Amino acid sequence: MNAYQKTLSFEDDISVEKIVNSKIKPRVAGLFSGCGGLDLGFEKAGFNLVYANDIEPNVKDTYEHNLGPIEIKDICEVDKKGLPDFDILLAGIPCQPFSSAGNRQSTDDHRGNLFGEVMQVLKIKAPSVVIFENVRGFLSSKDENGVLMPDRIKSELKKRGYKTYYRLLNAADYGVPQNRYRVVIVGIKNSIDCEFEFPEPIPKTKKQTVGAVISKKPPRGEKLEVWGLSPQSLDIAKHIPPGGSWKQVPYEALPERLKKIRDNIKLYRSPNFYRRFDLDEIMGTVTAAGTPENSGIIHPLELRRYSVREIARFQSFPDNFKFIGQSVPSKYKMIGNAVPVMLAFHIALAIKQQIFLKK
Ligand SMILES: C[S@@+](CC[C@H](N)C(=O)[O-])C[C@H]1O[C@@H](n2cnc3c(N)ncnc32)[C@H](O)[C@@H]1O
Repeated sequence: MNAYQKTLSFEDDISVEKIVNSKIKPRVAGLFSGCGGLDLGFEKAGFNLVYANDIEPNVKDTYEHNLGPIEIKDICEVDKKGLPDFDILLAGIPCQPFSSAGNRQSTDDHRGNLFGEVMQVLKIKAPSVVIFENVRGFLSSKDENGVLMPDRIKSELKKRGYKTYYRLLNAADYGVPQNRYRVVIVGIKNSIDCEFEFPEPIPKTKKQTVGAVISKKPPRGEKLEVWGLSPQSLDIAKHIPPGGSWKQVPYEALPERLKKIRDNIKLYRSPNFYRRFDLDEIMGTVTAAGTPENSGIIHPLELRRYSVREIARFQSFPDNFKFIGQSVPSKYKMIGNAVPVMLAFHIALAIKQQIFLKK
């Protein structure tokens, strides 16, 4: 039984172990695979990775060390007819066009149209299942014609013979030590007899608190990798107690930009910058940018960012997963971009059980 299985208690007729170890190992192709959070969750649930792609050269060594080959190429330039056959397509499309942290240009931003590339792959390869993952802002984003993105995806999938199910999930409801909301869209071929049900949330435990995560020793022999804070961030952070934020920083210690926001706090909708989570809290969303201003990246007991291993643990990567990057910030980026492995594992189990083992 692996660490992911231990978080589960399915009272179903079929046990988790049976799902994972079943001889049926559906083939997976991962697009926008990054360092492989989503792909690893599927592998842990007994799927067989047959193809992976990402545009970012920096993820190659990490992906290949931990998972297997990855083609580094813009998806727009990939020879889609030349892809191997697969049963399920994973598409963790870049979230920037839909993120509240970005400027939300949706499909006007060319990254929003990467959906079109995924649709082409579906047309050519016709897998049984496709999975999209995106940020919460995706639910209220509109395409160039003013159609809500979930409706647009639904109609695009319908044209290609797929029925659509989607839901906003919080990773913390699936054993991940982090509050991270993501929209998961599942497209299933009409010919498959399945009314898909998303996995039910499981009760949270103390193991999901910041204190539990940081009290674990780092893997033996692993050097602590920490992206240093800027002098300005250090000046701000030293005033913030665990459980606090920039609200505890004295006015005179703030840089001019933040003073302006403090002066008009309601106009700026009371932002909660520089959140520093306490030991008994659940960590906030780990971001790719890793900025102390917009993510709770400051360690509660030491004046520093969380280390690479600590944020990897908040993303539920196993300790034997190695991050190999050209720079320490590039590791924060690939980890912050990932789908938490444990969340991916739960989704993968539900799909395997309901679609591939019931055929
Ligand atoms: C949200 S991240 C995916 C994270 C990944 N699914 C995981 O769980 O680790 C989106 C990824 O899309 C990749 N990407 C962006 N534009 C791309 C393109 N045109 N072609 C291929 N990959 C692209 C980025 O490099 C990034 O790794």
